[in-house]
Amino acid sequence: MFSLRRGLPALLLGMTVLVSALGAAPAQAAVQLAPVVSSDKKTKPPTTDELTKDPASLLVLVSRTNPLKPENYLPKDLRTVAGSGDQLRNGAATALEDLLKAGRKDGHSLTMLSAYRSFERQKSLFNQYKARYGLDYATRISAPAGTSEHQLGLSADLGLANSSCDLKACFGETAGGKWLAENAQRFGFIIRYPADGEKTTGYKYEPWHLRYIGVEHAQAMKSSQAKTFEDYHAALVKASKIKPLTEAQIKEQRESLMVLRFLPPYRDWSVGYDFAR
Ligand code: DAL
Ligand code: ZN
Repeated sequence: MFSLRRGLPALLLGMTVLVSALGAAPAQAAVQLAPVVSSDKKTKPPTTDELTKDPASLLVLVSRTNPLKPENYLPKDLRTVAGSGDQLRNGAATALEDLLKAGRKDGHSLTMLSAYRSFERQKSLFNQYKARYGLDYATRISAPAGTSEHQLGLSADLGLANSSCDLKACFGETAGGKWLAENAQRFGFIIRYPADGEKTTGYKYEPWHLRYIGVEHAQAMKSSQAKTFEDYHAALVKASKIKPLTEAQIKEQRESLMVLRFLPPYRDWSVGYDFAR
């Protein structure tokens, strides 16, 4: 026999879980994840380990608070990007070549300034900034060795021929910089350090710094309106932890819902019911 006092909490809990399982969006969710659709139908949702532990994953998050493991990580498939002296991982290199070609076709003289950087190279760069600007400012513009995504072989800094805005915020105001912000996702890239994102990313605005995450995710991130990769990544990690319900759980919840039909009318049964009575 169904007991209101013992059965109702379980029933309400079951309904809550069922509504969530049926796909109701959580109220005020910061990042709305659209399903990632792959043209080759091979893309699976990333696992928690791929997102958080695998430096070879296109979706790994590297930042000052998420250092590379191992810190001297060396990507396996680096190659030179055509027309430059810089290297990227093979897929990112091909995507960047396509992006540069498309940008130039649209009239922008985009050039490579930097791409893959080893642990040692990053160390020397950071020390140069530190000597020039002091530790506090250097930390806002340059990653300490072992925490730069340039070491992933998935990031590139772009500039423009004959521009005085290379590696400066005003790059974002140039026609080439605007084209990049509008089109990068078509090639699988994101602007990794957006304006007003320093609190989250730890770095000042870098409209020239691209990070490759693959076309599907770059487009999904843009549609999700996530401001930073940190926000998009957190939503992916959260989604990766939700386990699908088992058949038995679904059956149990369907049965709990059936009980609703037989409940007597009770004025307070759904709101403010005092379960301790
Ligand atoms: N400028 C970026 C944060 C880096 O050094 O990786
Ligand atoms: Zn960079």
